[in-house]
Amino acid sequence: METVVGKTKLCLIQGDITLQDTEAIVNAANTRLLGGGGVDGAIHRAGGPKVLEECKKIRAKQDGCPTGEAVITTGGNLKARYVIHTVGPVWTGGNKGEDSLLRNAYYNSLKIARESGITSLAFPSISTGVYGFPIDRAAAIAISTVKQFIQGHHFKEVRFVLFSPEDLKVYEEALTQS
Ligand code: APR
Repeated sequence: METVVGKTKLCLIQGDITLQDTEAIVNAANTRLLGGGGVDGAIHRAGGPKVLEECKKIRAKQDGCPTGEAVITTGGNLKARYVIHTVGPVWTGGNKGEDSLLRNAYYNSLKIARESGITSLAFPSISTGVYGFPIDRAAAIAISTVKQFIQGHHFKEVRFVLFSPEDLKVYEEALTQS
């Protein structure tokens, strides 16, 4: 599914984020920035050691990446030139500010992309795997945050890359409702 918001193409696809040819892909990282499973594991495997090397340099400077913040590294062996590592919230029932932390993760990823002159980027479904954030709620937050940002800031393309047909359907529903 795709639409245009402002002057930006917003599209939803099913696929593997490590295969995307956007200028940047967003990693669903953790605060330690040392890799993990899921998207994090896939991106580090496909990106190669250069990605981890740059994550370690960031750790040396600022310890890691707080939840809701974002940092940027090389894409290493990936098609994408950059990886934007952001940290979504762990779902603990919805009363510990999880919604706004998830919003921040999308917002700060877009902000650092813009500051880096990046005009096309791909997001995974942040926090909806290991971190257990209910996907329908996460999709509504993701779509509204991205739509609001790209209304005012032009990108060529922003893409959501969902790993399963079920997840794609949830995001398509959220886009239709937005
Ligand atoms: N491409 C696109 N989406 C993917 C891929 C992939 N290659 N692999 C997994 N996904 C999907 C999952 O199906 C889920 O819908 O990404 C979504 C996010 O899942 P996680 O990767 O588990 O991310 P998250 O829930 O944010 O948890 C982050 O998991 O891997 C660790 O180090 C990471 O501690 C961090 C935590």
